[in-house]
Amino acid sequence: MSQTKRIRKVGVLTSGGDSPVMNAAIRAVVRSAIFHGLEVAGIRRGYQGMIDDEISEMNTHDVGGIIFRGGTVLRSARSEAFRTVEGRKKAYANLQKHGIDALVVIGGDGSFKGAEVFQNEFGIPCVGAPGTIDNDLKGTDMTIGYDTAVNTAMEAIDKIKDTADAHDRIFIVEVMGRDAGFIALRSGLSTGAEGILVPELHKEPELLLENLNHRLHKRRKSAVIVVAEGDQSGGALNFSEVVQNHFPDADIRVTILGHIQRGGSPTAQDRILASRMGVGAVEALLDGKSSVMIGIVNGKVHHTPFKLATKHHTKLSDELIRLNKILSI
Ligand code: F6P
Repeated sequence: MSQTKRIRKVGVLTSGGDSPVMNAAIRAVVRSAIFHGLEVAGIRRGYQGMIDDEISEMNTHDVGGIIFRGGTVLRSARSEAFRTVEGRKKAYANLQKHGIDALVVIGGDGSFKGAEVFQNEFGIPCVGAPGTIDNDLKGTDMTIGYDTAVNTAMEAIDKIKDTADAHDRIFIVEVMGRDAGFIALRSGLSTGAEGILVPELHKEPELLLENLNHRLHKRRKSAVIVVAEGDQSGGALNFSEVVQNHFPDADIRVTILGHIQRGGSPTAQDRILASRMGVGAVEALLDGKSSVMIGIVNGKVHHTPFKLATKHHTKLSDELIRLNKILSI
C-alpha cells in the first residue's frame, strides 16, 4: 500500500444524527487500523469531544460485542463550537496532544463539510464513512443505517395496515428523510402502500388524491399513504388536512414514526456495508487519500470528494417510482 505521509494514529468519531449501524463501522475502523499496524483513538461526542478532549485509546476488545447494537458507543453530537475557528483550533491542539494524525469521520453531509474545513485549515487527512439513515449523499448506492431504517419503517407500516384495514381508515404515515425520499419510497413499496410522497417529485399529491378517490369507492376502503417528512406537502399532519378536505367523510389517522427509525439492531446488509466502509476508510488513508467519502457503487468500494458527496444526493430510482405507480392502483 502506498503512503504519502506516514500515518501512525487514527482518530475515529461519529457525528451528527446517529444511524443504527455506526457501531459496526467503528468496530471495522478500529480493527482494520490495528490490523494495519496503526494505533487508534476514539473521540466521544463527535467534533464536540475533539474540542473538549474526550479522546481515549481504543483496542480490539473495546469494539467486541457491538456489531449488533444500534446507537454509537462513541456517542454523537452536532457541535456549534466546531463551526468557529477557535473551536477548531482547540480540536487540533487536542489531536496533536494525542498524536492523532488522521481522522475517520462517520456521519452525514454536515459532518463531512466540517471535516473538509478542518483538513484545509490544519492538514489532518480526513476520510468519511456515510453514517446516516437518509441515504442523501452522492457516491454510494446506500449509506450505512439506511437499510435498517427502511426495515424498521416497513415493520411499523405492516402493523398500521392491519388496523387500517380493520376500520376502513386512511392512515398517513410520516417517515424520516429531511431532503430525500429514499426511506419513504422503499418502505412504501415494500408494504404495498397506496401512495408515496417524496420531496423529489412535485406533482404527486394530485395523482394520489385521484387514486384515493377510486379506492374509497371500492369494497376495501382502507389505505396507507407514506409521506417523507421533507415532502413539499409539509409532512403527514399537513397532508392529512388536504385529504380530509377532499374526502370529508373519510376516517383519517396520522402516525409519525420518528426516531424509532434511527435505533435498533442493524440488518445483515447494513452490518456488512458498515464493515466494508470502515475498513475502506482506513485503507483509503493508508493509500494517501483524504477529503473523500467511502461509498459502495455497483458492489465496489468508491471514493468521492466530500464536496461532490455533499452537493447532491443520488437520484431516486426511476424504476422503483414506476413500480409504485403500477402497483398502487
Ligand atoms: O439526518 C437524519 C435525520 O434522522 C433526518 O431524517 C431527520 O430529519 C433528522 O435527522 C432529525 O434530527 P434530530 O435527531 O436532531 O431531531
